[in-house]
Amino acid sequence: MSHSSLKDFLSEVENFKAETKEQLEEFRLKFLSKKGIVAELFSQLKTIAAENRKEFGLEVNKLKKAAEEKFENFRYLYEKKTADVSGIDITLPGEPFLIGSHHPVSIVRKKIISIFSHIGFSLSEGPEIEDDWHNFSALNFPEDHPARDMQDTFFVKTENGTRPYALRTHTSSVQVRVMESTKPPIRTISPGRVYRNEAISARAHCFFHQVEGLYVDEGVSFADLKQTLLYFAREMFGADSQIRLRPSYFPFTEPSAEMDVSCFLCHGKGCNVCKYTGWVEILGCGMVHPAVLENCKIDSNRYTGYAFGMGIERITMLLYGIKDLRLFSQNDVRFLQQFAGL
Ligand code: PHE
Repeated sequence: MSHSSLKDFLSEVENFKAETKEQLEEFRLKFLSKKGIVAELFSQLKTIAAENRKEFGLEVNKLKKAAEEKFENFRYLYEKKTADVSGIDITLPGEPFLIGSHHPVSIVRKKIISIFSHIGFSLSEGPEIEDDWHNFSALNFPEDHPARDMQDTFFVKTENGTRPYALRTHTSSVQVRVMESTKPPIRTISPGRVYRNEAISARAHCFFHQVEGLYVDEGVSFADLKQTLLYFAREMFGADSQIRLRPSYFPFTEPSAEMDVSCFLCHGKGCNVCKYTGWVEILGCGMVHPAVLENCKIDSNRYTGYAFGMGIERITMLLYGIKDLRLFSQNDVRFLQQFAGL
């Protein structure tokens, strides 16, 4: 093939215009297919005299590039044209499709539920608007206990000014309902939203989420409670976790304790999260007060039980290093998206 014919091919490519899809396909077959002109010219390369080979190769490459470019340009234009016909330009960049993610509080709640379901705890739920009996009286709160005060509790006033209902301040109310309606053995956890009349800040909110647990049967002891909590801590915070129990007070448990877990960040060396103590406070617990069992018509001479309760937000903040409680309810996607895939 002569040099002049190569030049002719190049000008043919440069002057080419496709009106139809068929013309474009014809062009592709002629120049760019396996048996097309470009491939044919490349196969002739070895027959060219050595001194001309390099120049010939460069020329064929130029033709190849020009043909490919032409083909792509017309294909783009052709697709655009056919797309325009239906009124939708499918060649425009698409709208990004935002995928949602689980809320961090949901992630941690699910994890807690799964840990306790593995050792036979069932799930129980109750109303968020609760009467005094289930939220306070049955749980052995004395009439004058400060938690009943307006400072801590959102009361629901009725028309005649009485306050028979409140937004529940803890999900222990659910446990009363379960004890009233089921015979021991009872082994249940109650996750749910609770409300307290607190000024909103980075560390406090007027609502948060809890998971409380209850086990009532013959012969349930403090040792059972301790072992269950150790199991929970190791599943939740890592197999090398330790726990410690400090004496505390709740009207509905006796004895009562608060549980700390060894700091899962610094492993006891001391850091910001554990405030250089090596321990972080996780939950309240204790043996169900006999008066509570009796209030729920459970024979306290025959049965004993333990109970515990934890705040989900608190654990979530510790696990993910979240510094401000308000982030959980602001619905800022930039915050929420950081939990995608978890
Ligand atoms: N109800 C308690 C709270 O809201 C937690 C708790 C539950 C403590 C069960 C002891 C036993 O703080």
